Amino acid sequence: MHIAIDGPAGSGKSTVAKILAHKLNLTYIDTGAMYRAITLKIIWNKINPNDPNDIQNLMENTSISIRNNRVFLDNKDVSNKLRTPEVNKLVSRVSKIKKIRQHMVKLQKEMARNNNVIMDGRDIATRVLPDADFKFFLTASLEERAKRRAKDLKKAGYVYDFGQIKKEIEARDKMDMKRRESPLRRAKDAVLIDTTNKSIQEVVDEILSHIKGGKKSVL
Ligand code: C5P
Repeated sequence: MHIAIDGPAGSGKSTVAKILAHKLNLTYIDTGAMYRAITLKIIWNKINPNDPNDIQNLMENTSISIRNNRVFLDNKDVSNKLRTPEVNKLVSRVSKIKKIRQHMVKLQKEMARNNNVIMDGRDIATRVLPDADFKFFLTASLEERAKRRAKDLKKAGYVYDFGQIKKEIEARDKMDMKRRESPLRRAKDAVLIDTTNKSIQEVVDEILSHIKGGKKSVL
């Protein structure tokens, strides 16, 4: 069983995917966390993302894995370091680099092979798991998504400026949608769910009813 969930930042993908993974006994793979982990290494090692040789070298000497919902960068658990403002700011610039995407997509396909997974990201239904059994595309208004992000940041103890969060999300979405390599877009056969005025439970139930209805994603 493969379930793909795509959508822009703050649309509720990961919250919903985690609950569904638990209910359906699937392995949850947060692909955004993988792009965040490589971004963290670029920041830590002061690597120039525009230098192809540096990027080649980086990809040859980096391991990224996910075990029990924890993200490991070169075997170090970095799960709690992935959602900082520094990473948020750089991640979309890093994730549009072709070499990095190719490497990540390959890793993600390997993770799904012979496993029952629910994977969330930007290009899961279009690129990583085009044959997924079920495909969903979650959206929400910019205002709502920024509110959710602000709530997360507050919970994690960050001081934030709401207008700034909105701008950052907008900039990230734009970059994710406009890049050449597997941009963020809804697969033709993905079910579109606008989560703006819906509770987490309502979105989970909506997805479950599609899955239980057994109507697989077909064109
Ligand atoms: O999902 P999350 O907001 O953590 O993703 C962080 C960033 O990683 C996105 O803004 C996007 O640039 C990148 N990403 C991607 N492809 C994916 C998942 C995430 O390009 N499949």
